[in-house]
Amino acid sequence: MGDPLLLQVAQPVSEFGTAELASLLVDMRDTMAALDGAGLAAPQIGISLQVVIFGVGANPRYPDAESVPYTELVNPVLEPIGDEIEEGWEGCLSVPGMRGVVPRWRRLRYRGFTPEGAPIEREVADFHARVVQHECDHLLGILYPMRVRDLRQFGFTDALFPGESIQDD
Ligand code: NI
Repeated sequence: MGDPLLLQVAQPVSEFGTAELASLLVDMRDTMAALDGAGLAAPQIGISLQVVIFGVGANPRYPDAESVPYTELVNPVLEPIGDEIEEGWEGCLSVPGMRGVVPRWRRLRYRGFTPEGAPIEREVADFHARVVQHECDHLLGILYPMRVRDLRQFGFTDALFPGESIQDD
C-alpha cells in the first residue's frame, strides 16, 4: 500500500494464450502459494494487467468459509445479484499485518476468461463472492482499507485477534 501502481486502473489483456501471460501466471501462483494467500491480482506483483487468481481449500484460517475453486480470471466483469450487502473481515498481501471489516455484495455474477481465452461465467455468494470482489478491486486501483466504513474495525491483526496467528491474504 502506497505504491502508485496499486491505485491505477489495470489494462485489459488483449492477447490470450501468450508466453508472457503464462509466465505472469506462474509468478502469481508462486507468490500466492509462498504467502499462503486466498488470492492475488497482477498489480500486486507490479504488473498493471487485468489478471487475478484466487482459491481457498479447506483452510483453518477460514473455518466458516466454504472452499473456493482455484481460478485464473482475465478481464473480469462483476455484476451484483440483488442488493444484499454483507460485512466481513479481510486482509491483503499488499497491506501486511492488518485486517478490516469490509462491506461486499453478498451475491454476484462474474464473467471473464481463462488465460487461454476460454470464457468463464459463474454465479457465486458469500465468501467466494467476497474473494472475487477483493481481487477485482485491485484492478480498479482500490485497496480494501478504502472501503472500510468503520475505522474502529480496522487494525493490526495481532491486536484484533490476539493469539490466533492469522496471516495476511
Ligand atoms: Ni488484496
